Amino acid sequence: MSSIALITGTTHGIGRVTSRELAKAGRTVVMLCRDVPAAQRVRNEILAMVPGASIHVVECDLASLASVRAAAGAVRRDFGRISLLINNAGIAPSRQQMSVDGFELTFATNHLGPFLLTQLLLDRMNSPGRIVNVASRVHYRGTLDLNRVVNAKARFNPMAAYAQSKLANVLHTFALARRLTGTPITANCLHPGVVATNLLPRWLRAIKPLLSPMMLDEERGAKTTLYLALSEVVTGASGKYFDENQIAQPAAEAANNVLLQEALWEVSERWVKQD
Ligand SMILES: NC(=O)c1ccc[n+]([C@@H]2O[C@H](COP(=O)([O-])OP(=O)(O)OC[C@H]3O[C@@H](n4cnc5c(N)ncnc54)[C@H](OP(=O)(O)O)[C@@H]3O)[C@@H](O)[C@H]2O)c1
Repeated sequence: MSSIALITGTTHGIGRVTSRELAKAGRTVVMLCRDVPAAQRVRNEILAMVPGASIHVVECDLASLASVRAAAGAVRRDFGRISLLINNAGIAPSRQQMSVDGFELTFATNHLGPFLLTQLLLDRMNSPGRIVNVASRVHYRGTLDLNRVVNAKARFNPMAAYAQSKLANVLHTFALARRLTGTPITANCLHPGVVATNLLPRWLRAIKPLLSPMMLDEERGAKTTLYLALSEVVTGASGKYFDENQIAQPAAEAANNVLLQEALWEVSERWVKQD
């Protein structure tokens, strides 16, 4: 089996394009998705473009810790060592919902699920291996208010919930990179640009032609993820945040706060053990 690349959320948007390009680059692509029929359709689409590609679908609902455990188990059972783990899937819901495990859904999907997945597969990473977390520029606006994550009665602000989850992606990446120092495994995160995908509100997508060239299409939106996944230029680079032009940028002050990184790590470890 060729070098294995795992990626979450490939049914649409940036993840779909990234998977196709990984297949073109000769990787065995394992797509972790909650909607298996949709993922199979993407698989067939890629196979039509890249005949002979090795593409697999594993069911994984990142908003359910049990589903993440089952998916990690299936990956451990069915595949060899992993060269690349791309935590791409994400949501930005407009109303408050709680996950089956009792966590605010944006945080559960965008941070807790990927955190657990990464923990469960870390010892399966290849040497060298790369972990790529798709964060966002919105993390600069994020603050951590973990009470809101567990309190279903807390006032819900969709933008604050999304920004918090993306700040968590950067904090997670930096804490992970510190733990991986001295190993051949790297961890980086990125802002893909403002990309016209399902994630954006419908009204913003509808006026896309007016906003161009500010808004990127999905092909451009996948560029930084692919750069961090495949480019030789970033071999050995770790603990960095890249912008949509593939340039390493200083992350938010909060993201660089080691105490905050460790506080998030500690609470995430505790919460993912609860299911
Ligand atoms: N678009 C932008 O402007 C932008 C900007 C900054 C950062 N980002 C980040 O880029 C990443 C990709 O987003 P996108 O723009 O490509 O959005 P998208 O087109 O909405 O795709 C999101 C993907 O995540 C999957 N997903 C959602 N919830 C899931 C769950 N519980 N379990 C497993 N998969 C789940 C979706 O699958 P389903 O088909 O099952 O819904 C879909 O495949 C996200 O992390 C997002 O935060 C996007």
